[in-house]
Amino acid sequence: MSDSTLPALPTSDRPDVAVGLREALLRASFTADGLLELLGAPAYAALARSETVPALRATRGDAPLEALVRLFLLQQPVPYARVADVLPVDACLESGWLVRVGGASGDDVSATVDVRPYGGPGGEDWFIVSDLGCAVGGAGGIGSKDEGVVLGVGGASTTLAGITVRTPVASALDLGTGSGIQALHASQHATRVTATDLNPRALHITALTLALSGAATADLREGSLFEPLKNGETYDLIVSNPPFVISPGARLTYRDGGMGGDDLCRSIVQGAGERLNEGGFAQFLANWQHVEGEDWQDRLRSWVPRGCDAWIVQREVQDITQYAELWLRDAGDHRGDAAEYQARYDAWLDEFEARKVKAVGFGWITLRKASAAVPSITVEEWPHPVEQPLGDTVRAHFARLDYLRARDDAALLEDHFRLVAEVVQEQVGLPGAEDPEHVVLRQHRGMRRATQVDTVGAGFAGVCDGTLSAGRILDAIAQLMGEDPVLLRDRTPAQIRLLVEQGFLEPAR
Ligand SMILES: C[S@@+](CC[C@H](N)C(=O)[O-])C[C@H]1O[C@@H](n2cnc3c(N)ncnc32)[C@H](O)[C@@H]1O
Repeated sequence: MSDSTLPALPTSDRPDVAVGLREALLRASFTADGLLELLGAPAYAALARSETVPALRATRGDAPLEALVRLFLLQQPVPYARVADVLPVDACLESGWLVRVGGASGDDVSATVDVRPYGGPGGEDWFIVSDLGCAVGGAGGIGSKDEGVVLGVGGASTTLAGITVRTPVASALDLGTGSGIQALHASQHATRVTATDLNPRALHITALTLALSGAATADLREGSLFEPLKNGETYDLIVSNPPFVISPGARLTYRDGGMGGDDLCRSIVQGAGERLNEGGFAQFLANWQHVEGEDWQDRLRSWVPRGCDAWIVQREVQDITQYAELWLRDAGDHRGDAAEYQARYDAWLDEFEARKVKAVGFGWITLRKASAAVPSITVEEWPHPVEQPLGDTVRAHFARLDYLRARDDAALLEDHFRLVAEVVQEQVGLPGAEDPEHVVLRQHRGMRRATQVDTVGAGFAGVCDGTLSAGRILDAIAQLMGEDPVLLRDRTPAQIRLLVEQGFLEPAR
């Protein structure tokens, strides 16, 4: 890693100062709710987009919370005396959370790191520490071009946190921990958390995030991918929001994996198989190439390690120009020299051309170690809005796979099913037409799926309240429709399987 221009970090060897700082921050309502109340929804939302002007306007007063927002979120110097009213200022100066502006005798102090209140899923008041400037770039992109800059919470971070299965486990691994947000979440339901990163600065920041959030410390290990793990070391849960950007060269450690194309994501997915305990989940965000003449779904299927079931959801696809522009903007390159911007853009397209890449997919990959005789691998496209958190939905997806795998069609027809709560039926057709052209079942929770069903499927789902077996329901439908019940029993299980697999129906017992 090249020489850093980033400021020195607070020491992580003073847990007492972290405790004192945490208490002071909470006393001043420096929390997600407190900020929302102080700033108001628009300024609060603007801050989440890294835009600071509305928050600067909302913190012109002299309340303690306003001083903290200016100090830790807006990178503003604040008079020592004002800070002293709110924080253990001398301890914070000594341990490096704050520095004097303009040397030892300066009247103002400023923060060395960004500290952002973050509400945990159980109402916990957490704080995410990250490098200054990387969360306040606004339209200009991130504020630092230092290779080792450590970012705070972004959309990808919260997406991964939301889809992660949160059952209590003995051990969890957060690969590429960055600010420590995934490790922090894992600390709530894993007895032992290991957090790794190639960037030692990220590990230092993770220690600060955990300490300031009042969470248990994690086992912090420096190194690339699975290298920091011992031989045979396995986990119940592995999560990674890796540096998934497919770029012509490694520039920013937080996003550019430094391997060619989508090799870094593939390596993580493939490597996770032997690092998982039986029944364990590995969950990743990833980018993948859409290569000319290749089915993208086949590409992803080939990544799934032996002994694992997989559920892969493509959430978005961008053509190569959109993709290059997105990441050039992310680095703030569009604000720099025009010729340099063009050269970088060109290099990006050269790289894609050489690899015959037409587009890039973005999505979620979940593996579950199951060692089934025939693994189940689902690769699908679902770009529509979902309801986060989806951890339970992910867990239930694999439970339903186990259920379906254990039953042949005869056994399925013996079983009883219930329509999942908040599933509705929509009929689509021309106004005034007697019969709908399509009947669609739609979920209002979780993945918010919609699926087209035929008259039998719709009738079947409508009757499923757990009372009658599937076979008995089909017999009744056959009688009503004047169909042969044997034929109906023969052709309907595939549709029932799909409705169960996609979470419209659940086994009633
Ligand atoms: C996109 S950030 C994710 C940070 C955080 N886990 C989150 O969810 O917000 C990716 C992290 O992976 C780290 N990283 C980059 N290359 C790596 C590698 N080869 N092995 C392990 N970590 C790596 C980066 O330093 C960065 O902290």
